[in-house]
Amino acid sequence: MATFDIGEKSSVIGRSQNDIEKYGDKGCAYFGKSVLSSGEKPVLGRKILIDVAKPHVMLICGKRGGGKSYSMAVLIEEFARQPIEIRRRLSVIVIDTVGIFWSLKLPTKQGVSELQKWDLEPAKTDVRVLVPEGKYDFYKKKEIPVDGAFTLKVSELDASEWMSLFKLSWKDPEGTLISRVIENVKEKMGALYGLDELISACRNDKESEKNVKDAVAGRLAAAKTWGLFEKEGTKIREIAKPGAITIIDVSAYRQAVGMEGTRDVIVGLLGKRLFEERMLYRKEEEIRLTKGLTRESELPIIWMMIDEAHMFMPKDEDSFALNVLLEWVRVGRQPGLSLLLATQRPNKLHPDAISQCDLFISHRMTAQPDIAAVSQLRPSYLHQDFDKYYQEMPRAKGYALILDDQSEKLWLIKVRPRFSWDAGVTASAFKD
Ligand SMILES: Nc1ncnc2c1ncn2[C@@H]1O[C@H](COP(=O)(O)OP(=O)(O)O)[C@@H](O)[C@H]1O
Ligand SMILES: [Mg+2]
Repeated sequence: MATFDIGEKSSVIGRSQNDIEKYGDKGCAYFGKSVLSSGEKPVLGRKILIDVAKPHVMLICGKRGGGKSYSMAVLIEEFARQPIEIRRRLSVIVIDTVGIFWSLKLPTKQGVSELQKWDLEPAKTDVRVLVPEGKYDFYKKKEIPVDGAFTLKVSELDASEWMSLFKLSWKDPEGTLISRVIENVKEKMGALYGLDELISACRNDKESEKNVKDAVAGRLAAAKTWGLFEKEGTKIREIAKPGAITIIDVSAYRQAVGMEGTRDVIVGLLGKRLFEERMLYRKEEEIRLTKGLTRESELPIIWMMIDEAHMFMPKDEDSFALNVLLEWVRVGRQPGLSLLLATQRPNKLHPDAISQCDLFISHRMTAQPDIAAVSQLRPSYLHQDFDKYYQEMPRAKGYALILDDQSEKLWLIKVRPRFSWDAGVTASAFKD
């Protein structure tokens, strides 16, 4: 069993045998250990390392409380611990819908003894937390350590995107008005306009009825309260900085009524801009290579991590971010766009997100429709149905199945304990 192993102590997942020979275990994330025996306290074996230096589509499934966010945190910790030459070629963007990943900044106190069993120690992780500019107070009140704010550039949304955001169609007179307004404002002001300019253009429109104008102006005014849009907007290169791990905390919108679309817009626009930029830079890189220069451009390989991914890539609905993310999933690997999607409802997730993933990580699942949804992955190298594997998994937290297309193997592993404070625990303790 020599292949895909680095000596006797570890195996690399998600990396071709060629690349393992070339790079060894460099650019890998130490994710956990293989499980050697059955039962609730199984014997653990070799270290399981996951390739993070090349683009992947990674899917993490598992029922609620199954350990998805925890596993994401472990991976984030590993990104932060890459050697500098790898790290500065990577940029990690985490979409945090719950507001739990800021605690990566603090070393764990609860998990010290578990870490000791693994010969590991508590440590803080170098991440930066960005929040929507107009929601700064929300985070201050919650005492979440924030490193900066971001906004989205108003002119980056085209008419159809405003319509999707406001749930309007071309059939609605409001939809017609908004597209006319955008067109006119663009013509007059180019790319530098804000919501105020849109609102006044809407009020001054000559063709629409007053009630239609009121409806659109009202929606635009509501969008102002999201504290998200601005004339200038934060530069995408500021958000996707090489070597940086950026937590985009959008939890301020979690319970707010009428703001359901905001997270979707953030992910959709970020995804779109990153895709465009990355395509441009990829060309630049190719030109450097043809000139015999090294591979190096300003924009690094992007990893976008999305928790509750079924909300952004739903199966039977439309969403603002869906089409962009589908592009990431289908062709993103070529320009260096990696996705990590986590969901407790694979049955609600767009099937392409499942079929296109090359690294499948799953904590325990019990709901039949969700198990059925991931069963479409069933590769030829599995010996039994997914059901069976789930039944045989230990019930305790932190166990996971990993399917690796490279080694054509299914692993049962235990995720390593995290170095950092687990804000997921604190939040649930408050609720009880
Ligand atoms: N590998 C693990 N080791 C120890 N505790 C874990 C592990 N994974 C998850 N937990 C604990 O289980 C609870 C739920 O985990 P979480 O990652 O928030 O679940 P999910 O995101 O799947 O809903 C948390 O309190 C977390 O601390
Ligand atoms: Mg979670």
